[in-house]
Amino acid sequence: MSTRSLHPLILSAFAIVMLPGLLGHRALAADAPLVRSVWDGAYTTTQAAQGEKQYQQICQRCHGTDTRAGEEVALWGDDFWKSWREDTLDNLYHYVSANMPNDEPATLKTDQYLDVIAYLLKKNGLPAGEARLTVANSAGVHIYAKEGPGVLPAETMVELVGCLAKLDKGWQLVNSSHPARVKSKQVLRAENERAEPLAGGPAMPLKFVMTKLDSYVGKVMTVRGMLIGEGGREGINVMTTQPSADSCDAPQS
Ligand code: HEC
Repeated sequence: MSTRSLHPLILSAFAIVMLPGLLGHRALAADAPLVRSVWDGAYTTTQAAQGEKQYQQICQRCHGTDTRAGEEVALWGDDFWKSWREDTLDNLYHYVSANMPNDEPATLKTDQYLDVIAYLLKKNGLPAGEARLTVANSAGVHIYAKEGPGVLPAETMVELVGCLAKLDKGWQLVNSSHPARVKSKQVLRAENERAEPLAGGPAMPLKFVMTKLDSYVGKVMTVRGMLIGEGGREGINVMTTQPSADSCDAPQS
């Protein structure tokens, strides 16, 4: 075989190795349909039934049932969508397995966590599919509302990294990374998303800034705060700012 005719082969080998990573490790599962969002069937009915038992034994005392609200946030309905839409199933899995049960974090087996998440998907009206939810095939599976992808809900706690600028209209974080959700201080960021300024990324107005930032203009800045308006349309209600020594190109007002 000449080198020339090898090229397509090498390329397709690359595609086989890389695509599952990009598309959620599902592309090669024997004939299983590709799961890219929670609407494609990310768990099995059996798994959700096992998860229901886990939920009742372990989670219900804090998170409640349909008829009896728990002391903690509900894991289905509006609370679920507000907390998780525009995120991914692997982020949900990692958050739950690292932090729950809140008083004894990370004490369940991997399968118990996966099963209970399958049950939560079912409770949220998401369809079952042909393959069990596993850690590998949760990767990159998007959690969207039925209407399709949107932006993060107003009042979501987020972290962004961008370039600090002071313009006539006030503080801005320009060339910002896309806002990543923060839960219990932990940032839920997709694996392929780097925490650094993004050329051509959004310019986010920084509101209610309580610290003196003047000496950091033109530096890379990590900001945590709450989105004002859907997707942060009206800016970020700033909670913390963390400047780094790295310079960046900030526009001058
Ligand atoms: C001892 C009480 C307790 C138990 C048991 C418990 N949780 Fe939680 N859960 C919490 C608290 C408190 C929070 C809020 C934590 C925070 O925001 O820092 C929480 C938050 C969550 C969240 C995020 C919800 C949101 O909308 O932000 C999920 C998902 C979750 N729990 C799943 C589970 C699962 C699944 C189980 C069972 C395996 C479980 N929890 C067991 C207390 C508990």
